[in-house]
Amino acid sequence: MRNYYIAGNWKMHKTRAEAAALAQDLTAQLKDGKHQYLVAPTFTALETVGAIIKGSNILLGAQNMASEEQGAHTGEVSVLQLKDLGVQVVILGHSERRHTYKEDDVLINKKVRLALKHGLEVILCVGELLAEREAGKAENICETQTIQGLQGVTAEDVARVTIAYEPVWAIGTGKTATPEDADAIHAYIRGVIARRYGVEAAQKIRIQYGGSVKPENAAQLMAKENIDGALVGGAALKADTFVPIAKFQ
Ligand code: PGA
Repeated sequence: MRNYYIAGNWKMHKTRAEAAALAQDLTAQLKDGKHQYLVAPTFTALETVGAIIKGSNILLGAQNMASEEQGAHTGEVSVLQLKDLGVQVVILGHSERRHTYKEDDVLINKKVRLALKHGLEVILCVGELLAEREAGKAENICETQTIQGLQGVTAEDVARVTIAYEPVWAIGTGKTATPEDADAIHAYIRGVIARRYGVEAAQKIRIQYGGSVKPENAAQLMAKENIDGALVGGAALKADTFVPIAKFQ
């Protein structure tokens, strides 16, 4: 059975002291949590948070990384530097990277392969814009982003990949996809994985939902057959809202 995987993306929020306080709260409150957890603080807080969650049931994630190992890439952070800080997982292809910072599938794929090559786990985000959904293209966009994002990834390495379906129109907007709509896309993505990697890999891969996940809607979303967890933004910034999601019943 797939176990639930609940991740908090803290985006560009929190000083080190604020991140440390939240990490301490989460470590204490999720100690008896039954699922897999992850927090992804901003780069500058990774070391601080990593030291606090070490040995707990919470993984340390980064929100992005460079597509090159090292070199003249002003402002970028490399996979080697992330590993040096104890990072275990990297979120790639987040819609803010795709749409605000213009990352395309080719660049995202390069990052995915580099992260996997260095032993990291990957959360690959995919999702359609509102206009794409309205034009009936949601499945198509998610399929393209999944296939291109995983280009060249072996069946063995795909075991270290989680897909996060994040409809762009639901991120930070308070609008959530209905559990039925989300599940339909999750099932579709699972079919894409089955065609590329076989039924067993497709059954095993975890597909998180992201986009305005809140304590009030987490349980209904997680009840769906193909929804294996959540990638949480706004509600991950406070223990008061993240813990009930992480411990949904
Ligand atoms: P949100 O963000 O929960 O604030 O909608 C989700 C995400 O961007 O991963």
